[in-house]
Amino acid sequence: MDKITIFKNFHIIDEETDMFGTVIARNRVIEEIFSESPSDFGKFEADEMIDGKNWLPLMPAFADMHAHFRDPGFPEKETLESACLAAHTGGYGVVVCMANTKPVIDTIEAANALKRRADALGLIDLYPAVSLTHNMEGKALSAVLQRADSPVKTASQLPILLSEDGKDIADDVLFLSALKAAARLNITVSCHCDAGGAKAAEAKKAGLSRTVWSRIEENVAVKRAIRLGREADCRLHIAHVSTKESVEMVRHAKRDFPSFRITCEVTPHHIALTETDAEKLGDESFGRVNPPLRTEADRLALIEGIIDGTVDAIATDHAPHTSADKAEGAPGFSGLETAFAVCYTELVKKGDISLQKLSSLMSVSPCRILGLKKRGLIKDGFCADFAIVDTEAEWVVHSESFKSRGKNSAFEGKRLFSRIIKRKL
Ligand code: DOR
Repeated sequence: MDKITIFKNFHIIDEETDMFGTVIARNRVIEEIFSESPSDFGKFEADEMIDGKNWLPLMPAFADMHAHFRDPGFPEKETLESACLAAHTGGYGVVVCMANTKPVIDTIEAANALKRRADALGLIDLYPAVSLTHNMEGKALSAVLQRADSPVKTASQLPILLSEDGKDIADDVLFLSALKAAARLNITVSCHCDAGGAKAAEAKKAGLSRTVWSRIEENVAVKRAIRLGREADCRLHIAHVSTKESVEMVRHAKRDFPSFRITCEVTPHHIALTETDAEKLGDESFGRVNPPLRTEADRLALIEGIIDGTVDAIATDHAPHTSADKAEGAPGFSGLETAFAVCYTELVKKGDISLQKLSSLMSVSPCRILGLKKRGLIKDGFCADFAIVDTEAEWVVHSESFKSRGKNSAFEGKRLFSRIIKRKL
């Protein structure tokens, strides 16, 4: 039996649409969109009716290209259940989780097993990234890449994203062969770009501060990823870009090499916070993240990159940790439950971008990079997975109420605008 869900009286917003209307979904697929609210829905008889009453914004559920779910291996930080619930609460319908688990997710079989467990929870569509090398050791390509030339039959035999997570492959030859294999498979490689080589090592050895050497690390690594990515002609994605120089390199790469498939993401915390916030939170503890919070000039450059289209996506880099681990310097913030409100507050409320542009950055654009079809827009034939948001809401972040086990928010106590009321699939 078909299930018809009617979402009436909503302000429908996505990259292409900004209208008041009603969306009809059959079995979780959008079938028809009416402008305004017709008095009767013709052939459609609702099994479920959701009323946006005062024209609440209805947006496509968000897609996060970059989160750490810690499962398997680190239940004290997060479990699959708590992470999926956190994502669902934050308005996410799609999440790619990184492979730095214990054991490392370095095979499609391990990725599919985790995906099946997430599917059983029914909260989000999880797509585990697979590492580029076996056990993330940077020595031998992972099985997926080793088999790049053998005929692949189904999509379930391939991940939608490859990433070595916190470190790119140090060896140029191996990195290039990984990128070439990924190109043959037509899978995007997400590069973390913090392997800075000799220059950064020198700065570190000389006792220069983290803010100095980590900037060299990122800039050197982005330059190298672009050079090797072009040589491999692969789909290259630069994760959590944080320096003004990196944004500029991506901008130039897009402009100078139009056929090069390069994309990049920024995080909500790099858009909203700077090194001053890190200092207040504790540079080497609760304010620590990789890459570090940077200067105001960097922050503004990221926003400029968002406005001019250099930046393709916003990704959380959700990195839950225990307070004990944070106190000892574990890098990262718990971000799934604040991402939308932080971006709305910093970018839309302050007038830098429209809500439609934010939708693009958080929904359809990451889906395009990941090759996910029929997701991220409110359009006939697309997945009827939505975030219902209240852009009038104001709230103060209290991470104790997070569904995530990671209470390590960089926004604790901060007042944010807009809130996810419901995610509906
Ligand atoms: O701060 C971070 N923490 N950045 C990363 O890229 C990895 C993450 C983690 O796994 O904790």
